[in-house]
Amino acid sequence: MSINYNDTKLAGVHARSLSDKEGFWGEQAQHIDWFEQPKQVLDFSNPPFARWYVGGSTNLCHNAVDRHLKDRANQKALVYISTETNEEKVYSYAELHQEVQRMAAIMQSLGVKRGDRVLVYMPMIAEAIFAILACARIGAIHSVVFGGFAAPSLAARIDDATPVLMISSDAGMRNGKEVPYKHLVDEACSLAAKPPKHVLLVNRGLAKMDLVAGRDVDYAQARAQNMNAQVPCEKMQATDPSYILYTSGTTGKPKGVQRDTGGYAVALAASMKHIYDCKPGEVFFCTSDIGWVVGHSYIIYGPLINGSTTIVYEGLPLRPDPAIWWSIVERYQVSTMFSSPTAARVLKKQDPAYMTQHNTKCLRRLFLAGEPLDEPTAKWISEALGGARIIDNYWQTETGWPILSAQHGLEVTETKFGSPSFPVYGYDIRLVHESTFEEVGANEKGMLCAMPPLPPGCLQTVWGDDERFVKTYFSAVPGQHLYSTFDYATRDDDGYYFILGRTDDVINVAGHRLGTREIEEAIQAHKNVAEVAVVGVADTLKGQMPMAFAVLKDASVAATPEGAKAEEKAIMATVDHEIGAIARPSRVHFVTLLPKTRSGKLLRRAMQALAEGRDPGDMTTLEDPSALEQIKKALGA
Ligand code: PRX
Repeated sequence: MSINYNDTKLAGVHARSLSDKEGFWGEQAQHIDWFEQPKQVLDFSNPPFARWYVGGSTNLCHNAVDRHLKDRANQKALVYISTETNEEKVYSYAELHQEVQRMAAIMQSLGVKRGDRVLVYMPMIAEAIFAILACARIGAIHSVVFGGFAAPSLAARIDDATPVLMISSDAGMRNGKEVPYKHLVDEACSLAAKPPKHVLLVNRGLAKMDLVAGRDVDYAQARAQNMNAQVPCEKMQATDPSYILYTSGTTGKPKGVQRDTGGYAVALAASMKHIYDCKPGEVFFCTSDIGWVVGHSYIIYGPLINGSTTIVYEGLPLRPDPAIWWSIVERYQVSTMFSSPTAARVLKKQDPAYMTQHNTKCLRRLFLAGEPLDEPTAKWISEALGGARIIDNYWQTETGWPILSAQHGLEVTETKFGSPSFPVYGYDIRLVHESTFEEVGANEKGMLCAMPPLPPGCLQTVWGDDERFVKTYFSAVPGQHLYSTFDYATRDDDGYYFILGRTDDVINVAGHRLGTREIEEAIQAHKNVAEVAVVGVADTLKGQMPMAFAVLKDASVAATPEGAKAEEKAIMATVDHEIGAIARPSRVHFVTLLPKTRSGKLLRRAMQALAEGRDPGDMTTLEDPSALEQIKKALGA
């Protein structure tokens, strides 16, 4: 059955969210607790900066924990499951409240004050969630760095956020193997210009850990001294920053996306109701990592603000066997799940019998986001799961919650494979032609933009750099403050949107966002590399994989097949060391010349097209045609 967006109730809600912003968002604000009600819903006197809920005071930790104590003290708040260490622990809201207060007291004893930054570099363990919530409780600004990032990446984030405290652990575990953290912490502290004064360490007993006297503090010992701690929630202004989360863009240096407090709480509370349609008391299972925006919003804050139970899972979808997720769904009666298309593709490669071993009737919806959801995978998982609806939703680190999605809490609408459906309330979406800047019609490709003010919960600014915020996000269309997502999209005749990929040099590897420039800079750290280009190449499992084309200073080392292999390996190891294995190129090809225009611009799209077996298109601006021939030869084309 085909529907047209204009005939839906959603279209009406969306129109009102834009025409009566104050009324709409004023109502949504009533889903959270305030210490003081906002005096003004929106202050947009200094565009494109939007200040939501001015004069209101609240606290994210109060909304996620304390306010549920009245009705849900004994309800499960957090279920921690590790198939790596075979642990399973359940924390009620009352227990979570206690653990967060202990953590908050430890932080205070280490000198952390309101407005200070705390860097969280941790594996998927319950203590990471205590740490994040404790920051919110005392008004410290957390910056979580994904555990897969290596020491130089960690050091760059330390230097930008200048935390007074870092919280980490001895090690994580992945696929049965220990992933050490502590030595990366030590290395990052020695690389950083201004390392944190203290490092609080959770010892899981997985790796040997030497504590640095005067700097390092053992969490278990500190916790033992704070068992009965009572730390009240700070009254934060709605517009006070709650966290910084670094993300990749076109330039090499990651940007610190800065989020507010009140707007974020309201946006997440509203999304749990209207988009995810998960009720308080129900169980939400998000398979992301706390180091990514999905983890921030939908492992931690969203489900807890909603009074739901959140599952924190450390492990792979395949261990001990590919039915593990469905066994968790059955055991804890999960109603709503959130994962990535790559994870679905991984499961699709396994024996289908694993999909039906468990009774997953309780699962109403599986949300997938972070990268394009291909039609075969969407069809397969929706059939394999029987009853559960598969919902593709599209958003970004910058927005913190969906831009495009079905919104079944408001109205159940038909979905189309390959489409994240419709604009979410609050986003004034414009599809703009990339050279004429006119709005495009149905089925025409445009840049996906949004007219500010961006709704509550979206980034306030780039940490410490308002100018970069305006320049990066609001300058795609000359003379206008239009927010650019850096994605191309189309809208069909029925009003459904389809995402067509990035307009910039960002690639998406298994849902992880990486800048090709960032990877190029890492490769340049290898002493024999003169010049390098990195492009994202389509991959059937991970969506995209980075591929590098490098010009060596001394090409003789790669003159033989063995020499080339060894040099390729060494370059891959450099990427592992500089950024982390998530950014490792699938291949490094050696050439003596990179394809460039006469003005010296790298022709990345041409290299990408050739690597994907496509026609590179119009090459009239190419300076030296032999460069392209070399790429073809390297690819064996
Ligand atoms: O290119 C889009 C892609 O991922 C980018 C944002 O990545 P990140 O900041 O890591 O935030 C992920 C939050 C879910 C987008 O600019 N992307 C995200 N969701 C989708 C998507 N591409 C296609 N379909 C999606 N549903």
